[in-house]
Amino acid sequence: MSNFIANQTVHEQYGGVVPELASRAHMQHIVPVVDAALKKAGISLSEVDAIGFTQAPGLIGSLLVGGQFAKSLSLALNKPLIPVHHMQAHVLANLIDDPKPDFPFLCLTVSGGHTQIVLCESPTSMKVIGETIDDAAGEAFDKSAKLLGLPYPGGPLIDKYAKDGNPDRFKFPEPKIEGLNFSFSGLKTSILYFLQNAGKSNLYKEEFTATEEERTTFIRENLADICASIQQRIISILLNKLKKAALETGITHICLAGGVSANSGLRSTFEKTGAELGWKTFIPAFQYCTDNAGMIAITAYYKFLAGQTADLGVSSSARAEW
Ligand code: KG4
Ligand code: ZN
Repeated sequence: MSNFIANQTVHEQYGGVVPELASRAHMQHIVPVVDAALKKAGISLSEVDAIGFTQAPGLIGSLLVGGQFAKSLSLALNKPLIPVHHMQAHVLANLIDDPKPDFPFLCLTVSGGHTQIVLCESPTSMKVIGETIDDAAGEAFDKSAKLLGLPYPGGPLIDKYAKDGNPDRFKFPEPKIEGLNFSFSGLKTSILYFLQNAGKSNLYKEEFTATEEERTTFIRENLADICASIQQRIISILLNKLKKAALETGITHICLAGGVSANSGLRSTFEKTGAELGWKTFIPAFQYCTDNAGMIAITAYYKFLAGQTADLGVSSSARAEW
């Protein structure tokens, strides 16, 4: 009924999220955000049937703020408490709006911390059939952007510059990883060497032949082509594994999820690939791609229907197995 988001701009100056500052900002924001969400939905707390909250995974300080707040609400209102797994919620963001995928479906979940192919059998039954063995796709975007001197988070900026660039201009290597798993650390290293050589060679060798000035000039003059080429490679790494997963499982309802699914190149290539291969493709509305409360609420809703509530002893966790 409402999907209210409080952004934390305090981290930008540090080039990444500072965990302690994130927890403090959560404490400052949580009461006003809940108030604003209720106001937007036009309901009172007493009309809410259950309290869902993100239990794991993530930054523990921030998770604890949300977890304790949810428990307090649950206790005070005498309403069921429902712990939600952040990555499962990204997948179920695809069930918020119509049209919805049929079960079973596959979901490529790409965020700042995770890159997974999830086989979803029902709202409460899913398994990870492929995942990254090193960096996440969002990290690949953000770390590449950092090498280009762009501010954090650089993913959206690469997307923006890539629109005016030639994606075939520079050829970055595709990793050879068996099965359905992903790897992005080799790509990051090849971009580092490529930039250190100011694009003089495509050999991706560790030879630092360019001066600082040559490097910055090279980046400035070729930013759009570099961004487009990096983005194209990240997309091809993701979609090649997704195609393999679709082939191996025979599943044709395929979804995208997570912050990186906001990437315009990934969205269009995903849809084009789906049209070629006869998939029915689903991408959540933009506001449900990056981290949001709506995806936590829809997951809590299905868990509520399945009776999957918790008592006040449930604890938040930085890491969580599925
Ligand atoms: O799911 P999310 O909002 O937060 C996590 O749970 O990690 O994903 C954030 C990630 C960041 O790495 C950000 O750079 C990336 O999503 N991202 C993008 C775009 N928008 C967000 N990456 C590429 N292109 C975009 N348009
Ligand atoms: Zn996320």
